[in-house]
Amino acid sequence: MAIASELDTLIPNNVNLSADRKLQRALEQWQPSFLRWWQDVGPEGFQGDQVYLRTAISVDTDGWAHFDHVKMPDYRWGIFLSPAEAERKIHFGDFMGQPAWQEVPGEFRNILRRIIVTQGDTEPASVEQQRRLGQTAPSLYDLRNLFQVNVEEGRHLWAMVYLLHSYFGRDGREEAEGLLERRSGDSDKPRILGAFNAPIDDWLSFFMFTMFTDRDGKYQLYALSESGFDPLARTCKFMITEEAHHMFVGETGVDRIVRRSTELAKLDPNADVRKQGGIDFATLQKYLNYWYAISLDLFGGEISSNAADFFGASLKGRFKEAQHEEHTALGQHYDMDVIEDGKVVRKEIPLRTAMNEVLRDGYVEDCQRAVNKWNRTIQDAGLTGIELRLPHRRFNRNQGIYAGLHFDVEGNPLSADEFKRRQDEWLPSEADRTYIHSLMQPVVERGKIVNWLAPPARGINGQPFDFEYVRR
Ligand SMILES: [Fe+2]
Ligand SMILES: [Fe+2]
Repeated sequence: MAIASELDTLIPNNVNLSADRKLQRALEQWQPSFLRWWQDVGPEGFQGDQVYLRTAISVDTDGWAHFDHVKMPDYRWGIFLSPAEAERKIHFGDFMGQPAWQEVPGEFRNILRRIIVTQGDTEPASVEQQRRLGQTAPSLYDLRNLFQVNVEEGRHLWAMVYLLHSYFGRDGREEAEGLLERRSGDSDKPRILGAFNAPIDDWLSFFMFTMFTDRDGKYQLYALSESGFDPLARTCKFMITEEAHHMFVGETGVDRIVRRSTELAKLDPNADVRKQGGIDFATLQKYLNYWYAISLDLFGGEISSNAADFFGASLKGRFKEAQHEEHTALGQHYDMDVIEDGKVVRKEIPLRTAMNEVLRDGYVEDCQRAVNKWNRTIQDAGLTGIELRLPHRRFNRNQGIYAGLHFDVEGNPLSADEFKRRQDEWLPSEADRTYIHSLMQPVVERGKIVNWLAPPARGINGQPFDFEYVRR
């Protein structure tokens, strides 16, 4: 059943907010804090500019969004849930077959709140991480895409805050305040997850982040869109729609670097991309290694009793749960490489405790698909002997069974000393970072683009590349 959108209200929504005065008032009180947060730590230096942005106005598959120039602080952040499915049943875990929950089941209140807060925390965190990037935008098109991602992460925060306010009473309201109080990279009040405390201060990192880290978000949202707690499932389903554009920005962003680097390689007698002012493939590979590994960590431990609990409680399913044949995951196993006495050994792990790894498998495959695409761009340019690769999933991990151990990009064990000695081969060195930063010169003239990046194949919403995506 779809409820008509309330678009002209203080908080645009399709959840019939005006029918629940108490909830409406609580959210209207949270709104000024959100706007203050946006002004304080949102995009720095562009709050007065007109940006060509997409705004969600409904959840209809055709025409769910509206495009127009708008000042970011005037963006209409709204609450939109995918339509409810009539008589939806829980379809995995211990509660399979029961009607989907419309209220929080008392026994799972705490873990459900933790799931929502952890997801919600990543949304404002990424805005904070990226707040200074606008000042070094490679083109107006890219500047606009950055801001699109930022305002939508803001909306995703709203989506999670709606759930906290609606279903978790006073605790929920306190958590919603907390989401605006933690700060990415802050030593006293950091964001919850590691990857969301690493600064993103160059555009190569931004493209890698939207490619790899936002893609972890895609898999988390898919898993949560299966949830037996129906409001969470519906919220996440609609967030996935917006998330697709963020990953598009990352995947095509890296592809455009690759394309430009092939052109620059051909311009140089020694195929020296750096000499031509571009991003060389070795450096690109190191950034890829770094962001891929840190994003793999976000899936959590390979063997995890939390993951088993979430699945057992029918709160978090697998990616597209329906494609699996069996939905209790009991009495089944997952073959996993674990480390015993410094050696890699294959072990059978009960499937429920391996759910993080199952989700990670789909992610790895999806990343490989994108890497193949980038390699095709290199081949199509006629360059030989250059290939981008995903490092082994054991490489440079800080979470799970490989954390604290050392491996090369092929997954072979190394001593800590050897890793230290060789890490500049695999991860961006100080010199690499200095070089990448030296390339970050803003280009904000219409239709122009920086030297290290190729223009996109097409513009946004049918507009040409030289459209005035941001009016300064
Ligand atoms: Fe998001
Ligand atoms: Fe995102």
